[in-house]
Amino acid sequence: MDPIIELVDVRKTYGSVAAVDGVNLAIAPGETCVLIGPSGCGKTTTLKMINRVIEPSAGTIRIRGRDARDLDAVALRRSIGYVIQQIGLFPHMSVEANVAIVPRLAGMPPAQRRTRAAELLALVGLPPEEFLDRHPKALSGGQQQRVGVARALAADPEIVLMDEPFGSVDPLVRRQLQRELKRIQGSVHKTIVLVTHDLAEALYLGDRIALMQRGRIVQVGTPAELLFHPAAPFVSEFFADHRDLAQLGLRPVTEIMAPPTRSLGGASGTIAPTGTLLDAIRLFSAPASGAAASQGSIDVVDPATGAAIGVVTPEALLGAVAAALGGDGGPA
Ligand SMILES: Nc1ncnc2c1ncn2[C@@H]1O[C@H](COP(=O)(O)OP(=O)(O)OP(=O)(O)O)[C@@H](O)[C@H]1O
Ligand SMILES: [Mg+2]
Repeated sequence: MDPIIELVDVRKTYGSVAAVDGVNLAIAPGETCVLIGPSGCGKTTTLKMINRVIEPSAGTIRIRGRDARDLDAVALRRSIGYVIQQIGLFPHMSVEANVAIVPRLAGMPPAQRRTRAAELLALVGLPPEEFLDRHPKALSGGQQQRVGVARALAADPEIVLMDEPFGSVDPLVRRQLQRELKRIQGSVHKTIVLVTHDLAEALYLGDRIALMQRGRIVQVGTPAELLFHPAAPFVSEFFADHRDLAQLGLRPVTEIMAPPTRSLGGASGTIAPTGTLLDAIRLFSAPASGAAASQGSIDVVDPATGAAIGVVTPEALLGAVAAALGGDGGPA
């Protein structure tokens, strides 16, 4: 399928500083693509160039196959949903008015706007009869974020950009909002580009993750590709440095193994029952030479008897990683 968003050699420089230093990325319709990486690596700048809040210094951005420079910047911005951390709700306007800003600008009549706002509030889990006429100051942080998401969806955009949308809410509410976003995405199928610092959020929400460093994408791929096939030391270090992942070095693989009957052969290697989840990740990352592909599973073999007592699949390992990062058993 043709990409709906395409960045080709995109650069943004401020004086002698390259905030974004040659980014190439193609995003498919309906995909959730997460941009992650250290502070200052260029995530926000990349995102803002997609809806032309920032103009690139060089390179090309195509939206639905058309060069963004040929599109009207204001119309483009309104056609793309945008959610930011500091929500930016207008304090003097009701929730209904906040949600319906873009529909109002587009000339939608008031009665229809109220119906639309009510639908969207219900979608994000806020009973409309209770929330339509409230003002932002009478909402909790999590409720304000939900209104922010409802507003971004108001014009039914194909594309939604989210910059640390849940960055300012506490961890429990954050997990809940992530679950809700996943549920909403399951029914609206938008193309979402989401910036986050939260690796658990990236693994949970991202169909693909683009890991950035100093203005460049170091690797883009599915969560499993980044975890099991890191393209550079920076990628494995980014995962390994995460303090919540250290515990995986203390948990034996027997915790997540399936019965040996599930072994499909062509395994990525073997591991002793005392091996840890971190050892298993390393095995997947650097499969034994001769292994057909490291897509297979790892056999857990008793060193005393040589008998296979179980298998560890990449899916089981990825689930354990997501759960470890989620802290509360994972957002799922
Ligand atoms: N208007 C500007 N003028 C000069 N430098 C800028 C400007 N905007 C961003 N930069 C620099 O460009 C780099 C990338 O900034 P950007 O905001 O995209 O980073 P980020 O990955 O979103 O970081 P964070 O995770 O902290 O939000 C940073 O080094 C930043 O200081
Ligand atoms: Mg940022």
